Order: sequence, then structure tokens, then C-alpha cells
Amino acid sequence: MDDRKNALAAAGRDTQLCHLGNDPFAYHGFVNPPVVHASTVLFPDVQTMETRNQKYTYGTHGTPTTDALCSAIDALEGSAGTILVPSGLAAITVPFLAYLSAGDHALIVDSVYGPCRRFCNGMLKRLGVEVEYYDPEIGAGIEALIRPNTRLVHTEAPGSNTFEMQDIRAIAEAAHRHDCVVTMDNTWATPIFFKALDFGVDVSIHAATKYPSGHSDILMGTVSANAAHWKKLEDAYTVLGMSASPDDSYMILRGLRTMGLRLEAHQKAALQVAEWLEPRDDVARVLHPALPSFPGHEIWKRDFKGASGIFSFVLAADDPAKFKPKARAFLNALNIFGLGYSWGGYESLAVPVDLSDRTIRKAPEEGAVIRLQIGLENVEDLTADLARGFAAAAEV
Ligand SMILES: Cc1ncc(COP(=O)(O)O)c(C=O)c1O
Repeated sequence: MDDRKNALAAAGRDTQLCHLGNDPFAYHGFVNPPVVHASTVLFPDVQTMETRNQKYTYGTHGTPTTDALCSAIDALEGSAGTILVPSGLAAITVPFLAYLSAGDHALIVDSVYGPCRRFCNGMLKRLGVEVEYYDPEIGAGIEALIRPNTRLVHTEAPGSNTFEMQDIRAIAEAAHRHDCVVTMDNTWATPIFFKALDFGVDVSIHAATKYPSGHSDILMGTVSANAAHWKKLEDAYTVLGMSASPDDSYMILRGLRTMGLRLEAHQKAALQVAEWLEPRDDVARVLHPALPSFPGHEIWKRDFKGASGIFSFVLAADDPAKFKPKARAFLNALNIFGLGYSWGGYESLAVPVDLSDRTIRKAPEEGAVIRLQIGLENVEDLTADLARGFAAAAEV
């Protein structure tokens, strides 16, 4: 077993993704782990029950299926422990509840995933936590915003919908000088393209709903903490009664096996589409960190190992009154891109972006922002579909 572990630790990305998690010989050699459906776990005698001196004690506290996924994710993240929660949004709210108390101050990036802002402005404020939003490109300047009661700095890179990059290492160093916990929504890059904990992040958050699932049919979140922050996270998870279903856990582990290959395909196709969009007169800007023209490109190139398949562009319009009508015409003309939220699946999607809740990074002035998730279809079919959209927008 140690030989296998050592070989895997030294292996390449896709080899690891194929083999991490369960040990087949711990379950009769079956290559995949069993899907264990459980609430009750039996104890052999009352002494064992009283001391809880056995590996599994109750369904919400882990099963061989959830353990297989958690151990694969710990290996990818380099974390001390991982919890599985029922959605990517819960993967943000549970650590916030774990680390924040009444009277604390939290710094949240202004380009954060929208529902996280709703949680902060609603429930966190109600629980007595002060919330302040900061510019995603603040870097080490975050130190000036840290107060004696600041406990948590939340990052997300690139940012939701507008894809601003963040200097995660500089932010984490400043935050740690003041004993703040640094959380990161790392869903866009996955641990394959950005290993958050290596850059000073304490708690790495993922909507496994996206690339780990890969098929738009599962909702799940993962939260992985370093050794210093694991205990508090695990305690919060236990007292909140959170758990993920065995079937979903199994499917996410299944998705991980092909995630590296899928990500490469998403990356390649998304860049091709972004490069096709960039020179067009009806496109004011393409918001994609891997494009040299993008303001955060240098940080992306320095810190990230790749780019996934979701980015945005600004649909040019000379009159703000035409922003929405042009976006609607564009989106309604698409036949292959679906109009739907979420991303990371096999199919391409397009959505109009609403930035009205931003307090610092306001909406662009050149036109409406449209977000594209590039799936695994043939790129020429996707660009032909987008061309139909541009033709319809030109009629407005
Ligand atoms: C960056 C980011 N984080 C978290 C989430 C939440 O994931 P879920 O849909 O599983 O709640 C999303 C969903 O779109 C997202 O885009």
C-alpha cells in the first residue's frame, strides 16, 4: 500500500485523478468504492458505543463513500481535512459560520459570487458581523482595511462574472499578519489549475457542482482546510448537521477521474472562442484572464497553471438605452448555447450579467456583459451560434 501511495504522490495530474481516494483492496478489489446509504451504524457493545471507539458512528459523520471523496480532495488540495456540503453556496456559508462571531468584521471581495453577498448582507449582518467589500485588485493594500476585529478575508479569483484576478499570496500574507483566516472560492480554477493552500489560503472552497461534476446534474460543495483551521470547520459541520448524499459523493468522485481531460478541452475551446470574439467591432472587451489584453493577465500567468471554460464579454452599444435590448436579442438568437445558470458541464451556456449589486467594481460603460460557459461541443458550431447572436444584436 505504501508503494502505491508513494507512486501516486510522485505521479502526474491525470494519473492522480484516476487513482486518488479509495483503496480498491479495502473493498474486495472493486475499483470503485461502495455507495453506502446510512443513517444508523451499529456498535458491537455498549462500551464501544459509549467511547465511540470505531471508525464510523452515524451517517452524517462520514461513510466509506464520503471518505473516498474527501481523501481524494485532500490529496489534490494538500489540506488537513475536507467537508462535503449540499451545494457550492453552502461551501461558502458553512466556513463563514465556522469562523465568524458577533462583533467580528469580515472583508469580502467585491467581485464575489452574488448569493454570497446576499448571505453576508442578510444573515451575517443579522448575526452581528460587520461586512465590508474590497476591490479585487487591492493586493497587499488590503492591510489598510484590516481592523482589530477583522477575522476573515474572503477571496475569489478570478471574480464572478467579470473575472478580475487577485494577488492571493499578497492578500494572505497581509491577513495573516493580523491573525485573520483567509478563505477562497477557487471553483473557477479547481485545485488542478490553482492550489490555493500553497498560496497562503487557509480554507479552499469549491462548488463541486461545476467541473468535478461536469455534467450539470449534481449539486455539491467541498471545503478543505489547512491543519490550523480544520478543527473549527469540522466542528461547525458537525453541529450544523450538514452532510452530502452518498450517491452524489460517488458521482463527484467519478467526475474527478476525467476532470483533468475535460478541463483541458474546456480551456482550449474557451480560449479559441475568446480569441474569435476579441477583434470584433461589436465586442467592446473580452474578460478572460488568459488573454494578454486582460488587466489581471500577469497575475494569472504567474500563479495559475491554466484557465477553465467560463468568461465574459462586453457587447458593444453606443447608447446605454440599448444595452439590455441588444443583450436580449443576442441571447434569444442562440440555438446551441443554452440560457441557464451554473457552469462546468459538458454543454455551452450564456447568461446576461447583472452587476447592480456591486459597490466598488461597477458595470462596464461600453455595453452589457454576457457570460459564456464553453462546453465540449465543436468550436466552429459555437462561433457560428454566436455569430447568429451578433447578427440579431446588430438589428437593435
Ligand atoms: C463561483 C461560484 N461559487 C459558488 C457557486 C455556488 O455553487 P452551487 O450552484 O453549487 O450552489 C457558484 C454557482 O454558480 C459559483 O459560480
